[in-house]
Amino acid sequence: MQEKIRLQKYLASAGLASRRAAEAMIAKGRVKVDGKTVTQQGTKVDPHINEVSVDDHPVSMLKNKYYYILFKPSGYLTSVKDPFNRPTVMDLLPKKKGLFPVGRLDFDTTGLLLATNDGEMAFRIMHPRYKVQKKYLVLVKGLISSKALFSLRRGTLIEEEIKTSPAKVQVINKKRDSNESLLEFIIHEGKNRQIKRMCSAVGHPVKSLQRTGIAFLTLEGLEPGSYRALTSEEVKKLTELTFNRQND
Ligand code: URA
Repeated sequence: MQEKIRLQKYLASAGLASRRAAEAMIAKGRVKVDGKTVTQQGTKVDPHINEVSVDDHPVSMLKNKYYYILFKPSGYLTSVKDPFNRPTVMDLLPKKKGLFPVGRLDFDTTGLLLATNDGEMAFRIMHPRYKVQKKYLVLVKGLISSKALFSLRRGTLIEEEIKTSPAKVQVINKKRDSNESLLEFIIHEGKNRQIKRMCSAVGHPVKSLQRTGIAFLTLEGLEPGSYRALTSEEVKKLTELTFNRQND
C-alpha cells in the first residue's frame, strides 16, 4: 500500500480544490509543507506526518477521521455486518460512516479492539512490517512445560509450512489446583486465530483470551462493551511509531 500521496491529491482529498486547481495553487507558491513553500508538482506527503498549509492556513485530509478503542466483550463478531444477524462490534460503537474494526478478535475473545475509518492507519497497525506490538493475556489448559514455552518463544509451526515469528511469552502463574496456566504473549503478527493455534500446537489449548494492549494503548478506564475516542496525542504517537518502523 502506498503511504505517501502527491500533494495535489492531498489537497483535493482535503476538499480544498479539484486536482487541477490544486496544481495551480502549488505552482503559485501558495502551498507549504512543514512550513516550506513547495512548487514541485510531484512532491509526496504523508498525511499522518506532514503539515500542509495553503496561504498559511493548515489543511488536513484527516479532519474527518475517527479512531476509537473498544473493550470488546465475548459474544460479538469482529465484522461490519453479519449475514446471520449476530451481534457485531459495530453495535457497540458510534454510528460513523466508513468505520471498521482494525484486524480481528474471535467471537469469544475479549479486549482491546481499535476501530477507524482511516485505512492507512489500520494497515500500518496490522501489517507485521510496522512491528506494532499486540499484548494478550492467555489462560491455557495444563501446566505449561519449558519445552512448550521454548517452542512458543522461538516461533511455532501452526500448520504445515506456516510458522509464527518468535513471540515474547511470560508465565504469569501456573495453577496446580485447576490445572491451567496464565500466560502473557506479545506478538506483532495477526495470523488468523494465531494465539489459539500456537497454544494448541504445543499441547495447551486456550481456555480464554484477552487482548490487553496494542502498542502503548491499554484497556485502562474501559469496561467490557464500552469505548472511547483516541486523543489526538495518541493518534499522533501511533502514527510516529508506525512511520519510524517502516524504515527499520
Ligand atoms: N489470536 C487468536 O487466536 N484469537 C484472537 O482473537 C486473537 C489472537
